[in-house]
Amino acid sequence: MKNKISIIGAGMTGSTTALWLAERELADLVLVDILEGMPQGKALDMAEAMPIIGKDVEIVGANEYEATKDSDIIIITAGIPRKPGMSRDDLLNTNAEIVGTASSETLRHSPNAIFLVLTNPLDTMAYLTMKRNGLARERVIGQAGILDSARMSAFVAMETGVSVENIDCYVLGGHGDEMVPLTRHSNIAGVSLRDYLPADRLEAIIERTRKGGSEIVSLLKTGSAFYAPAAACAQMAEAILKDKKLIVPAAAYMQGEYGLNDMFFGVPVMLGANGMEKIIEYDLDEEEQAAFAQSAEVVKETHTALNKLVKI
Ligand code: NAI
Ligand code: 2OP
Repeated sequence: MKNKISIIGAGMTGSTTALWLAERELADLVLVDILEGMPQGKALDMAEAMPIIGKDVEIVGANEYEATKDSDIIIITAGIPRKPGMSRDDLLNTNAEIVGTASSETLRHSPNAIFLVLTNPLDTMAYLTMKRNGLARERVIGQAGILDSARMSAFVAMETGVSVENIDCYVLGGHGDEMVPLTRHSNIAGVSLRDYLPADRLEAIIERTRKGGSEIVSLLKTGSAFYAPAAACAQMAEAILKDKKLIVPAAAYMQGEYGLNDMFFGVPVMLGANGMEKIIEYDLDEEEQAAFAQSAEVVKETHTALNKLVKI
C-alpha cells in the first residue's frame, strides 16, 4: 500500500516540500490551502512534472480537509511568514488560530497520523498541536534543528571549502535568535570546529547561523526561506516512513530531558516509524548549559503567551 502525506499550506514551504517529497517517490501527496484553485493548480503542475522525472506519485490539491483522509504524515506549513523586521514570535496570534484548526481538522480524518510542524513560532506551534489534540509526544515533531544545523554547515563549507558531506553541525535549542550552535560537537571529518577554525571565524559563523532566517527575509523582502526548510521536512518524513532511526536535531516535547519539562525544544531525536522515538542527551559543559537555559527561557515565554491567548 502506498503511503500518503498531506501538506497543509501550499505556499512556498508547503509546495516546495511536496516537490522534494515527490522526487523521493515516498508517498502520494495532498496539498491543502484556503486559497481556491492554488493548491489544485500547483498539484496539477507538479503531477505533470512526474513523467519528466520518472516518479509515480499521485499529487492532488484541495481546499477541504476530507482530501487528507488516512494520511500517514501531516505536515503543517499553513500560516503567515515573517516580513522584514518581524520576529518569529510576532506571528503567534495569527498562526495559533490557523495551526489549531489545521491540526484538529486533519486529525479527525487521519487519527493515526504523525504531525510534522513547520509554522512559526515553531516550538510553540508544535506545543499547540500536541496539547490541543491530546497527542502522544512521539507523534508531534517540530522542524527547525535540521535547517539551523544545515545553515551552519553551509557557512562552514563556504569558509573552508570542504565538502558539505564532511561537515556535521549541531544547532539545538529554540528556533529563535537564542538557538544554540554547539561548536564542540560540530565537526569536520571528526575534527571539532573549535580546533579547525580560528575563534573569530567560528564566532562569525555562529552569529550568521543565529540570524540565518532573518538574512533571507531581508533579501527576499516578501517572505521567508523555503528551499532548505522544505528539504528538512522531506528528510524527516522519509526517516519516519522508512523507519530509518535517523538522529537529527528537531523540536520535541520535553519530559525531564536536559532538565526541561512541558515544552518543545530543539534536541537530537531519533526518527522512526513511531515518529519521535527517542531523545538523545548530550553531555553539555557549563557554557553550553547556560546557552540552553537562556534559549529555553525564550521558548517558555512564547508558550506562556500562547496559554494566555487560547485555552489548550
Ligand atoms: P506562505 O505564505 O508562502 O504559505 C503559507 C500558506 O498557508 C499560504 O498559501 C496560505 O494561504 C496558507 N494558509 C493560511 N491559512 C491557512 C489555513 N487555515 N489552512 C490552510 N492553509 C492556510 O508561507 P511559507 O513561506 O510557506 O511559511 C509558512 C510558515 O512556515 C510561516 O509561519 C513561516 O514562518 C514558517 N517557516 C518555518 C520554518 C522553520 O524552520 N520552522 C522555515 C520556513 C518557514
Ligand atoms: C527560517 O529560519 C522562517 O523560521 C524560518 O528561515
